[in-house]
Amino acid sequence: MRILSVVGARPQFIKCAPVSRIIRKRNEEILVHTGQHYDPEMSDVFFEELDIPKPDYNLGIGSGTQGEQTGKMLIEIEKVLLKEKPDLVIVYGDTNSTLTGALAASKLHIKVAHVEAGLRSFDRAMPEEINRVVTDQISNILFCPTDTAVMNLKNEGITEGVYNVGDVMVDALKYNQKIAEDKSTILQDLSLNPKEFLLATVHRASNTDNKENLSSIVKAFSDSEETIVFPVHPRTRKYLKEYNLWGKILKSTKVIPPVGYLDMLKLESNARRILTDSGGVQKEAYMLRIPCTTLRDSTEWVETVEEGWNILVGADYEKIKKSIREFEVPGKSRKIFGDGKAAEKIDELLE
Ligand code: UD1
Ligand code: UDP
Repeated sequence: MRILSVVGARPQFIKCAPVSRIIRKRNEEILVHTGQHYDPEMSDVFFEELDIPKPDYNLGIGSGTQGEQTGKMLIEIEKVLLKEKPDLVIVYGDTNSTLTGALAASKLHIKVAHVEAGLRSFDRAMPEEINRVVTDQISNILFCPTDTAVMNLKNEGITEGVYNVGDVMVDALKYNQKIAEDKSTILQDLSLNPKEFLLATVHRASNTDNKENLSSIVKAFSDSEETIVFPVHPRTRKYLKEYNLWGKILKSTKVIPPVGYLDMLKLESNARRILTDSGGVQKEAYMLRIPCTTLRDSTEWVETVEEGWNILVGADYEKIKKSIREFEVPGKSRKIFGDGKAAEKIDELLE
């Protein structure tokens, strides 16, 4: 089969690595990078560390408003699809690259497989929620990571071509955990001792593009008097500077540029707590059994909250501080995201 995969943003490089490795054994894969993320530390580092083949196309779309970025991607992806005529397009997750890959393909009557289908935060103010809902409606094969995702699709009337294969991020984590342990020197580089620091990431539009929310998060971090390691997403760096919060965050946390996946795994596994608004990081915290404070009011990864490993605090100063002081986890966890064989199952089902 000729499979064309569309990726573009950091979490998609991580998700496509295990799938790409396996489907290439018996299929031809054409890899398209939309260029949504383009800084070396947001893109190249993942291709190098995870051994992802060089993309056959980099569309160089870059940043822009929602409509601008989505529109440009649609135009360029369609051109590639018309030229390459694949049998199937695979898209990952919930970014603008996901939506446009699925939309361009379905309008050309090319079958679409969506990896990480069925997730819902039920918050349509998030661009990602719109991307999830539309992508699932136009996909032919829906690879869900959890039973909740299967149920969400059923509630929207989508039952055909739906498979719970588990989460490909478990595959990625399992494959790279030992490699990260051996190779990453990030703890020494930052003079950190295991379990003596917290790890934070922030990049959601609701937190970054809102001065009040970002200020509240920064104040909670600095008033916590904890050592907080904070790899800063470029979007967040831009707004921290714009809102004059950059000096304060530099003084109160260990601000570092975005890190590669291996350093991130090492930081996550050795953190005492994780504070994040990232979807992927919430899951990794659960898999690594690290207490997670989620800086959002909703999550699509509801199981992590139900199981007691994750607490939703939004951008609320008091709630963030209280969770840092008091949030306790149950000690037990389950394999809610599958067994690390999601890519294998996807490959078999595609075959
Ligand atoms: C995107 C996804 C989000 C995902 C995140 C992963 C959408 C709507 N959002 O959000 O779901 O969680 O990726 O990290 O698709 N920028 C750079 N260099 C880069 C990339 C971005 O400087 O390499 C800056 C630009 O100022 C840009 C801003 O970050 O405007 C936002 O980038 P964008 O890709 O639009 O959205 P993310 O916030 O990264
Ligand atoms: N990640 C990383 N370096 C960082 C921050 C995150 O490698 O500096 C990884 C993280 O471990 C996870 C993925 O990127 O695997 C999550 O991506 P992100 O938070 O950008 O997006 P989301 O999951 O929220 O869509």
